Amino acid sequence: GAPIEVDIDKLAPGDMMVLEWRGKPVWILRRTPEMLAALAKAEPGLADPGSGVEAQQPDYARNSHRSLRPEVFVAVGICTHLGCSPSSAFQAGNPALGADWPGGFLCPCHGSTFDFAGRVFKNKPAPTNLEVPPHTYLSDTRLLIG
Ligand code: FES
Repeated sequence: GAPIEVDIDKLAPGDMMVLEWRGKPVWILRRTPEMLAALAKAEPGLADPGSGVEAQQPDYARNSHRSLRPEVFVAVGICTHLGCSPSSAFQAGNPALGADWPGGFLCPCHGSTFDFAGRVFKNKPAPTNLEVPPHTYLSDTRLLIG
């Protein structure tokens, strides 16, 4: 599949857009300062906080926010367990996820949870963090994925 170009100028903080790339859903989430703060809070509960599985992201996304720009998170929205789509971002304190939930994504199929950088929580069926696809900025607001 060819790379796709997308304008993220109108993506508001806290909003997520979903595109299709190589037949897969790709998320672009503009993280709020609260979502970025939640990444540090999530770390003790994560299976692979340092993104040690090389195949799951390009080198430039092997950082705590798993992206080029801290506020813009790009990921393949497919659970690394059996391929469902954890399509929703759940804010901290969501009653369904308990008082300690720092915020992130929930896969409805078997309950894997991921933080706002797509890092899987410990003791969940998903074996690895969500995949971050290759991406680059063509300008301040134009992103090339693929
Ligand atoms: Fe997501 Fe099983 S497919 S938890």
